[in-house]
Amino acid sequence: MNVLIIGSGGREHAFAWKIAQSSLCDNLYIATGNAGTARVGTNVAIKPTDFERLATFCEDSDIDMVVVGNEEPLVKGIVDFFKNDNSLKNIKIIGANQQGAQLEGSKDFAKNFMNKNNIPTAKSETFTKETIEKAKQYIENLATPIVLKADGLAAGKGVVIAHSKQEALQTLNEMILDEKFGEASSKVVIEEFLDGIEVSLFVLTDGKNYVLLPEAKDYKQIGEGNTGLNTGGMGAVSPVPFVTEEFIKSAEEKIIKPTLQGLQNENIDYCGFIFIGLMVVGDTSYVLEYNVRMGDPETEVVLPRIESDFLALLDATAKKELGNHTLKISKKAATTIMLVSGGYPEAYENGKLIKGHGNLPKNIIAFHAGTKEDDSQTLTNGGRVIALTALAETAQEALAASNHAAELVHFDGKYYRKDIGKDLF
Ligand code: AMP
Ligand code: GLY
Repeated sequence: MNVLIIGSGGREHAFAWKIAQSSLCDNLYIATGNAGTARVGTNVAIKPTDFERLATFCEDSDIDMVVVGNEEPLVKGIVDFFKNDNSLKNIKIIGANQQGAQLEGSKDFAKNFMNKNNIPTAKSETFTKETIEKAKQYIENLATPIVLKADGLAAGKGVVIAHSKQEALQTLNEMILDEKFGEASSKVVIEEFLDGIEVSLFVLTDGKNYVLLPEAKDYKQIGEGNTGLNTGGMGAVSPVPFVTEEFIKSAEEKIIKPTLQGLQNENIDYCGFIFIGLMVVGDTSYVLEYNVRMGDPETEVVLPRIESDFLALLDATAKKELGNHTLKISKKAATTIMLVSGGYPEAYENGKLIKGHGNLPKNIIAFHAGTKEDDSQTLTNGGRVIALTALAETAQEALAASNHAAELVHFDGKYYRKDIGKDLF
């Protein structure tokens, strides 16, 4: 099979690394990719949202399967674009269609969907400019902290946890009146704060059947001890100790099956990943969010634990034959630590020379995120630069290996969290 992966982060390098190991894979391309993906496949300089050029590339290169890594092309309708074109519709495409992608593209859609399908989630209401006075009233009646969410995609910055009513009111004004996130914050979901522990589940579905991938926990904040600004994710661990068989069973009955049934009820033909962000409060798991893609850096710990042929799994998904598929998952623990550019998640500089990533210990997989190759040198090219994954018998051993690797890779301004996974043990 000739495969095109869409995206350019650590998640896409992990996809490329895993798919390249499949005997079913002939040629592998990544649009746009990074310096890491260039080592396992061929990078293609086409933006994930340039559907016309991606289509031409697929025809010219005889692509059999497209795997969409990031959410933006899904929310913009890449799947519908391919399915509605006679010369493209036979290409297998792994990703939600535009309607399904609303689970991530609109928080209001996701909340309505959860409520309609009795999926446990935080109590909330959605407001617009027209109903802003009601929003203020709603804030007055909620206990603090209060969570405000821009309805649309906001590059991971659209959720604010306000610690006072005054901060909540100010955030409401910024989102709705000052259009802080443009159209994305013309609607705002206001919801109660849930105090618990987060974990992410990953489902791959062909629309009817599903397989559950290994769970993961990520670390979103920039500072140690979960302090400071939110990032895309600073590290991840899989498995998560409190996710027992019983926990999974309950999540399947209360969340996963109702989610898939809900999609079918809406006639949404969903063929791809669903990332379910949970908040566990006591004995109850609440859905914080759906994403219509894999997590990053969660993918960098999930895929190394999958022992089955991943391309065969994706092929079965596209053919709607997941019902016959079982996954072989390693009992080993995987951890990853993300090295980021100094200043991230605020302003940072690109183009710093990366050293030491070429000769890391054998038990480390270096998944590139924001990197690029220049004159056979590897340079930083993004806020999140490289994820150092280790697979070991225990999470403690894996963490020690990831931390050791983090010391061995150098670039100007390098920063990483040294406390990834420590809260779990
Ligand atoms: P979301 O994009 O909805 O997952 O929100 C991003 C992050 O905000 C989550 O990973 C949580 O850490 C936090 N968050 C979102 N909703 C809530 C909530 N209702 N209660 C507490 N924390 C939340
Ligand atoms: N690491 C969180 C995400 O991918 O959304």
